[in-house]
Amino acid sequence: MIHVKSAIEIVSMRNACRLAAEVLKETGKNVQIGITTKELENIANKKIKSLGAKSAFFGYRDYPGIICTSVNEVIIHGIPSYRKLNDGDIIGIDVGVVYEGFCGDTAKTFAVGKISENTEKFLKISELSLNKALDNCFAGQRIGDVSSVIQKTAEENGFSVVRDFVGHGIGRNLHEDPQIPNRGKAGIGVRIPESCCLAIEVMINEGTWQVELLSDNWTVITADKKLSAHFEHTVLVKKGGVEILTVC
Ligand code: MF3
Ligand code: CO
Ligand code: CO
Repeated sequence: MIHVKSAIEIVSMRNACRLAAEVLKETGKNVQIGITTKELENIANKKIKSLGAKSAFFGYRDYPGIICTSVNEVIIHGIPSYRKLNDGDIIGIDVGVVYEGFCGDTAKTFAVGKISENTEKFLKISELSLNKALDNCFAGQRIGDVSSVIQKTAEENGFSVVRDFVGHGIGRNLHEDPQIPNRGKAGIGVRIPESCCLAIEVMINEGTWQVELLSDNWTVITADKKLSAHFEHTVLVKKGGVEILTVC
């Protein structure tokens, strides 16, 4: 069931999402050659605490991290570790917070030092696919209308979309209905109601769409070890379009 938010709930969603965006911004500022993903997690943790919020990820289905840090071939759910970032790496940082009983969820993939021209194009197209999905999301649209533009944008540029993980509704719970796949057909799927909140997330692979799960049971990597990028915003769906909530 898709939960439609009341005016009061929307106020709290805005607050929670703004804080998630602030944490992502602060953490992203610290991405640099030589830093470990654990150090980035510590920075995020401090910021979350200083804002009076809580991590929405820590302890969720026993996830052991405060944030997710997904380097290069890691698609999502990278657990912060003593892995150091190298020149030319990319890192997806995913932040979820709970505040006033509501969740905000946002992710962005950052360049470390100087990345190649190909990698730069890859990140640009991945972010574009999220932006196009946001442009195509408004009350009355179907899920397939959003999913299909993600797939089209990625594939027409020679990249692939992840099939095994999806975007999601969000509210009091991190993951609510509906699911928002990265692939689909326009005109297909359930209609998106006004005043629902969605975490639209694109997971784009440079090579194959196929994934592998590491033995930690969290880290998802590309089967061919090529790069993967992750961009995510939590939005409020309105008549004419979305209000992006994870901004600051
Ligand atoms: N943030 C992820 C998402 O965008 C979910 C993280 S799973 C967790 O949906 F266990 F790490 F919380
Ligand atoms: Co997320
Ligand atoms: Co999400």
